[in-house]
Amino acid sequence: MLDYVTDKVQDESRQGEAFLPFTGDHNNYKKRFYIESYGCQMNFADSEIVASILNKEGFGATRNVENADLIFINTCSIREKAEQTVRKRLTEFKKLKDQNRGMLIGVLGCMAERLKSKFLEEEKLVDIVVGPDAYRSLPGLVEEAEGGQKAVNVLLSRDETYADISPVRLNSNGVSAFVSIMRGCNNMCSFCVVPFTRGRERSRDADSIIKECSELFENGFREVTLLGQNVDSYYWQPPLTPPLGENNPQPLLDENISNNGNTLKIEVSVMVASPFGGGREEAITFAKLLEKVALISPLLRVRFSTSHPKDITDDVLHTMAKSKNICSYIHLPVQSGSTRILQLMNRTYTREWYMGKIDRIREIIPDCGISSDIIAGFCTETEEDHRDTLNIMEYGKYDMSYMFFYSERPGTLAQRRYKDDIPVATKKRRLQEIVDVQSKLSFESNKKDIGKVFEVLIEGDSKRSDKDWMGRTSQNKVIVFPKENNELKKGEYVMVKVNDCTQATLLGTIIN
Ligand code: 5AD
Ligand code: SF4
Repeated sequence: MLDYVTDKVQDESRQGEAFLPFTGDHNNYKKRFYIESYGCQMNFADSEIVASILNKEGFGATRNVENADLIFINTCSIREKAEQTVRKRLTEFKKLKDQNRGMLIGVLGCMAERLKSKFLEEEKLVDIVVGPDAYRSLPGLVEEAEGGQKAVNVLLSRDETYADISPVRLNSNGVSAFVSIMRGCNNMCSFCVVPFTRGRERSRDADSIIKECSELFENGFREVTLLGQNVDSYYWQPPLTPPLGENNPQPLLDENISNNGNTLKIEVSVMVASPFGGGREEAITFAKLLEKVALISPLLRVRFSTSHPKDITDDVLHTMAKSKNICSYIHLPVQSGSTRILQLMNRTYTREWYMGKIDRIREIIPDCGISSDIIAGFCTETEEDHRDTLNIMEYGKYDMSYMFFYSERPGTLAQRRYKDDIPVATKKRRLQEIVDVQSKLSFESNKKDIGKVFEVLIEGDSKRSDKDWMGRTSQNKVIVFPKENNELKKGEYVMVKVNDCTQATLLGTIIN
């Protein structure tokens, strides 16, 4: 159990996932690439952008690494264990390459950014190294590597958002998709390497987000998760428009989108007068963006991740409360329950502030599911600090948490300022206590749902049996229920009554 939790990442079941070949795959591709992804949801979303860039250049995807001309590994640096897993995989790939000289190996993502050309020069494990903001240069880098040069691009950008690239949805259940709305992070939590590997925060053009989500809906998707390291600081200012004139007609107040014959009004733009006669549309905050995405269709569920307790606004909470299709679920990482440790972590809130946010969420959205990220054994953490973490978990009544023990990362504020002074055995023991509390809370939360009826979006067959459906409630809980000869399909909504549960899953039956 501990081995599992020590490297618990955003979605454990997806780690190392490789892409399926493109639908309509054919043999005309000049090269085949294989891509394996590790880390957070953002990395998985990035792999879909990489796949799109490569596909446009005539490369096809394969799920069989032995058939690949190019092997890519999209990496994570968040904890040491994540990096070790990648290194192990790279040595396995190197063995394959030794048998197949034409094969090229590329490292993408956070580890590429962190270690830069060290991979090429010292370790000689790989041919291509590309950081998270340089994926557009991949085709050119592949060409360079084919010509025998070592190809590296780890430049971070202040404005790259890949806004215009339509990700290739591979390995998708066809129902839910991730949509990246911003990149980078300006927060500088002292334990975290992300601001160094993913660079400055920047928000993606709101119109391109709405367009991507609308297209997903038209293609049958029924759930989008808007992704960012800190979604609450999303902010997009539309560019200035020139003065109104013949070539610049009054913008339409309502834009219409047609879905299966139903016409929906999705947008009302407000023009702000400019002294120069032109106009500037109102800036788009995260609350506004959520509202816009939710208006695409009442049949499109909207989720988002991750929220920072210091930034989540009442505006966002009220928008969630009034829009039925914005899911009642917030991932609100606490990291620690001790104000002293939170300060060392540079989280910029206190224990009381966090508790106040929990109260506010419950007040505005009474049925809201809440989950958290928790770090055990940060520098100088005492038993009392640790107990503060255990009892803030009880206060938050989390439905679920991602739990880790502290792993010092080179270059971070914590590594430079504080001693990593908690013995590993203590970190592991505290982590186990955190895991035990979470198991109890998850079970209690699930038991409270017994007897209730939920609207469930069907995602597919349950893992155990094709006679059962698997779906999720708005609160993001997994629910499994018998198909019962109904004519239902994945991507449809159904009302399900909860009859029983385990710690991780609700069990129910369809009600008419
Ligand atoms: N050690 C342990 N956990 C970490 N996280 C981030 N950096 C570290 C680290 N150095 C955790 C935080 C974050 C989640 C994505 O990973 O809890 O919210
Ligand atoms: Fe890391 Fe903090 Fe930014 Fe999250 S908010 S990515 S933990 S620096």
